[in-house]
Amino acid sequence: MNKFLNKWFRQIHRWIAVPTALLILFAFIIKMVGSSEVAALWEKWDKLPSVLMLFMAITGSYLYLLPYIVKAQRKQRNVAIQKADR
Ligand code: HEM
Repeated sequence: MNKFLNKWFRQIHRWIAVPTALLILFAFIIKMVGSSEVAALWEKWDKLPSVLMLFMAITGSYLYLLPYIVKAQRKQRNVAIQKADR
């Protein structure tokens, strides 16, 4: 399960990174230099960069915590092995 999450969270984080960065730049340019009609059209899609950023934050937080999760699990496993040896 953990290996599955590790793989997919990293993949999602990697694949969403480029569209997120491009969309944030795109939204910024539209707001700064776009005409009011284009800005009004964009209004409908304005939440998309925030939603993508939320996915980045969730998957990124998991990737950040991953080494600590693995460490804690290894420690638990070693304690269980030591108990079984006794
Ligand atoms: C709150 C937001 C974010 C957090 C907490 C976060 C955290 C992380 C962490 C912990 C890693 C793994 C580093 C490692 O194991 O070496 C990572 C990788 C990465 N992050 Fe983020 N990140 C965030 C947002 C972003 C954004 C906004 C982008 C780009 C638009 C981005 C692009 C990447 C890329 C491309 C990788 C490498 C993925 C791979 O190939 O394994 N991240 N991030």
